Amino acid sequence: MVCGLKKWVFYSKINYRSGKKHIMDLKQLKKDAEIGISLIKNTSDLEKWRIKYLGRKSVLSLFFNSLSELSLKEKKKQGQKANAIRQLFSSLYKKRKNDLESNLSFSSNFIDITQPGEKIRQGHLHPLTSTLSDITNSFQKMGFSIIEGPEIETEYYNFDALNIPAGHPAREMFDTLWLRSNNKDKFLLRTHTSPMQVRFMETNQPPFRIIVPGKCFRYEATDASHEIQFHQIEGLMVGENISLSNFKAIIEEVVKDIFKHKVLVRFRPSYFPFVSPGVEVDIKLKQKGRSKIQDANEWLEIMGAGMVHPDLFKRVGYVTNRWQGFAFGLGVERIAMIKYHIDDIRLFFSSDIRFLEQF
Ligand code: DAH
Repeated sequence: MVCGLKKWVFYSKINYRSGKKHIMDLKQLKKDAEIGISLIKNTSDLEKWRIKYLGRKSVLSLFFNSLSELSLKEKKKQGQKANAIRQLFSSLYKKRKNDLESNLSFSSNFIDITQPGEKIRQGHLHPLTSTLSDITNSFQKMGFSIIEGPEIETEYYNFDALNIPAGHPAREMFDTLWLRSNNKDKFLLRTHTSPMQVRFMETNQPPFRIIVPGKCFRYEATDASHEIQFHQIEGLMVGENISLSNFKAIIEEVVKDIFKHKVLVRFRPSYFPFVSPGVEVDIKLKQKGRSKIQDANEWLEIMGAGMVHPDLFKRVGYVTNRWQGFAFGLGVERIAMIKYHIDDIRLFFSSDIRFLEQF
């Protein structure tokens, strides 16, 4: 405690008659008491402080006792000053006591080790993001590079360059969101990632293997298996002596990697104007799952694929008889739904925390 108590008593006894010293000493007393109380961190120290500054034997009490020896006028003057100080001390005391009782002042250095810890909430990846990165990682392990393309596409790359000219029945497969433009080029939101096949080949020479992950858009009525926006991963591998059996081997490896157990893969003949022949790729998980799609233990369609049509090679200026390649387009939501037993595609974009917290 900073208060020079003994010194003050000495002054009060020797000098009280002069009055002046008393005033100075009261000031010092006030200062000491204020500093003292500001350092107090617990109730027992506060009690010591109270005894020292407000108790019966406190300096202030001694001072009051000594007032009787002063003249009436001086007594009144000094008495008022001392009273004000006593009031100040008792309000300081009350305030500090309150603070300590409401725990405010010692919360900073008081740790209740019996209190249960506060759980730190951690975020995590969206199920689509983790599915997307599982798939791209898997392809990367097999030497595929990741390429990105524009979500706003031209009619040419989305359709014409892929052998789907205006009026072609295949255009009807794609419910397209067209954009207004003053330009002679017609713009749209890409309906698939396939436009990147031609875009990439225009500026790159084989051999290469790429994947193009990205968002696609279709003007569709939504239901449990259709969304207006979804993700695809396009794949393209072009080189010498590339065949569908290379493709099958790669896909078998990738799906095994994604689902973490053996998966059967089969091809069904299909038609896409930019490949020949075209196939539909189905998988069958050997394990029994929980969702309806899996319980049936049936073949599940996951992508379209095929050997790149020679027209596309011609369009980009490749020597057509030298290069062969396969292309595929994989639905990311579809894979995530199979993997996590999700039976409604709309859940992915619903922002429903009850859904998202399950992953
Ligand atoms: N782009 C097609 C679609 O969205 C999927 C597709 C089929 C992509 C065959 C391909 C392919 O690369 O070879 O329906």
